[in-house]
Amino acid sequence: MLSWDEFEREDGAAPLIKATATEPVKTETVNQESIAPVTETPTAPISPREQVANFQSNLDASEEKKNADALQKAIDDLEELNVEVGLEELEGSANRVAVDDKRMINCRADLNQLVPFKYDWAWQKYLDGCANHWMPQEVNMTADIGLWKTPNGLTDDERLIVKRNLGFFSTADSLVANNLVLAVYRLITNPECRQYILRQAFEEAIHTHAYQYCIESLSMDEGEIFNMYHEVPSVAKKASWGLKYTQELSDPKFNTGTIENDQALLKNLIAFYCCLEGIFFYCGFTQILSMGRRNKMTGTSEQFQYILRDESMHLNFGIDMINQIKLENPQLWTDQMKEQATQMILQATALEIEYARDTMPRGVLGMNAAMMEEYLQFIANRRLIQIGLPEQFAGVNNPFPWMSEIMDLRKEKNFFETRVIEYQTGGALTWD
Ligand SMILES: [Fe+2]
Ligand SMILES: [Fe+2]
Repeated sequence: MLSWDEFEREDGAAPLIKATATEPVKTETVNQESIAPVTETPTAPISPREQVANFQSNLDASEEKKNADALQKAIDDLEELNVEVGLEELEGSANRVAVDDKRMINCRADLNQLVPFKYDWAWQKYLDGCANHWMPQEVNMTADIGLWKTPNGLTDDERLIVKRNLGFFSTADSLVANNLVLAVYRLITNPECRQYILRQAFEEAIHTHAYQYCIESLSMDEGEIFNMYHEVPSVAKKASWGLKYTQELSDPKFNTGTIENDQALLKNLIAFYCCLEGIFFYCGFTQILSMGRRNKMTGTSEQFQYILRDESMHLNFGIDMINQIKLENPQLWTDQMKEQATQMILQATALEIEYARDTMPRGVLGMNAAMMEEYLQFIANRRLIQIGLPEQFAGVNNPFPWMSEIMDLRKEKNFFETRVIEYQTGGALTWD
């Protein structure tokens, strides 16, 4: 690691060494051979200190000239700057933006003008996300480390649940973040939504950090866990299902503006918000949080609890975006599109049920694959209704009502009695 001391020394040392070791010798030689014989007058001896001072003064003069040249070049280049370049992309945006100019997609108004807000829900979610900021290192992992290292601390089935979920989530959050930054951000043409997307992208980085922190704390085989999305079929299927919907949009040449491409964006939002974050995360969240309720792996559970709080906000933001796009572009929400959206949610549910069976070959922690199947069908019904589609699973109930309670963490008091959950950072100051 660098320190300021090293920085100072390195920065100041080089010229001094150069000046004393080489240049003064050369100066002295010139004086003796070329000047002294011509004038035939005795030359006053120059002390070593004066030689260094002369050299330094020459050096300073040449540095000054270099700096002056560099400044002149910067000024010359600025004079040639064409202010039209770059702003041409914002055609029609030379004026102040009015609320009615704003649109979720294909907007021509200046995207750098955050206000006036049109979508207050997006700005409010940005503020709520900031107020709920947390970091993985704040969670005490001591009890987990002790339990994980105790040979009979957990059953094999419980260990399988922890490993499979860390394996899935450690890469799933990266896939979500990549989709946001490389595909969605560019295509959502509204600054307040972009502001939330930037906040969400940072939260996804915190989630990946949290999984890495758990994996490192428990001294797991990092290669095995992070590569699980390639090696375990039920994990690999979920990842590749999501990737299918991001590939076309992350091509820099892809653009919205046609019905087909606008529908491709809508499908991406349904895939990532409703299916990936809204269905694929729920089996794992339920399993890990159930473990915490039984006083096992309480640190890991607490990490997942914070992540679930963030994810439920991501999901709600995604639902709001999807519905707003539908409202502004009713031509996109065709019968065929509705059918495709329903199919996507059914496929995601089927993949998550497969994952539930794979991670719970037997009953464990008071739950089993059949209960999880009903829970996932219950969740799927909610996702369908949230984007205006009819339920597909009649008569299913929520076998895990405690999950809904955990999601509303502001009401929840210190669930695992390790710390106060209700803390907030970045709260608003008042300036009365
Ligand atoms: Fe996440
Ligand atoms: Fe998320």
